Amino acid sequence: MKERLTHLLKKWPPFYNLVARIYANLRPYLIAERIVGTRAREREWATRRDRKGNDWNNKRYPGKNEWVLSYWDSRNHSHRPFLTERIADFSPISSILEIGCNCGPNLYMIAQKFPGIKIQGIDINPLAIQKGKELFAAAGISNVKLSVGKADELSQFPDNSFDVVFTDAVLIYIGRDKIQGIIKEMVRVARKGLILVEQHICKPNNKANHSLGIRPYGLWQRDYVALLKQFVPEAQIGITKITEDMWADPQWQETGAIIEARLPKTANLGKKVLT
Ligand SMILES: C[S@@+](CC[C@H](N)C(=O)[O-])C[C@H]1O[C@@H](n2cnc3c(N)ncnc32)[C@H](O)[C@@H]1O
Repeated sequence: MKERLTHLLKKWPPFYNLVARIYANLRPYLIAERIVGTRAREREWATRRDRKGNDWNNKRYPGKNEWVLSYWDSRNHSHRPFLTERIADFSPISSILEIGCNCGPNLYMIAQKFPGIKIQGIDINPLAIQKGKELFAAAGISNVKLSVGKADELSQFPDNSFDVVFTDAVLIYIGRDKIQGIIKEMVRVARKGLILVEQHICKPNNKANHSLGIRPYGLWQRDYVALLKQFVPEAQIGITKITEDMWADPQWQETGAIIEARLPKTANLGKKVLT
């Protein structure tokens, strides 16, 4: 019923956006987030276990845990090849870290494209990590290492330990209280660059809350260029806006972007910068 209603509403994007905005802000963890900050969101993700339904609205599964399996089944989602292309722009690459990888749909695609390199994923949800380990083992892929970990706890990784560090639909859950610390740490552990598939405010604006974030639909969107420049003013930043062929969801088409930051740590800063 909820899926049918959503499908129907999505035919009128302005109306869908209005309803989504009202509905999203009524959820208990969003109300809690206003009081205790990102901790409320972290708890919501970390404790998801036998939740029914899936996060991609594309298929029904009979058993429990289907929300994790729906991520695995989204390996071929249309935005992932674009992300993999952006990662390939940093070639040669010998190591990659995804923060908030769930069971590893992106890492599966990356392992196909870059066999044999060191691929690591962390996620706050232990069930997603456990399922991911089983799924990669069943697929015979041994160079993907998954572990439970939080975006704001990257101290386990030494400086410059991965060529590319990326997030895909994860910083949308990080509030103003933690975002700067996380970006700073991502910059520290990345050697060549960062890629963020997140919701971006494109229009340049000096308002502080645009770099720290606003969350009109319950998901944080921010000016990532301004935010990244706070930590690496010399970074070369490219933005690819999410288009319909990448992601059918109107909200991702409205504000979604692939943000690519080349860090000035290596002599070879790469050739291609998108605008
Ligand atoms: C919308 S899913 C995206 C999963 C995956 N990146 C993808 O592209 O399919 C968000 C993921 O981020 C994880 N997550 C949320 N907050 C996190 C945090 N603070 N630290 C680490 N992972 C987090 C969730 O457990 C979930 O697996």
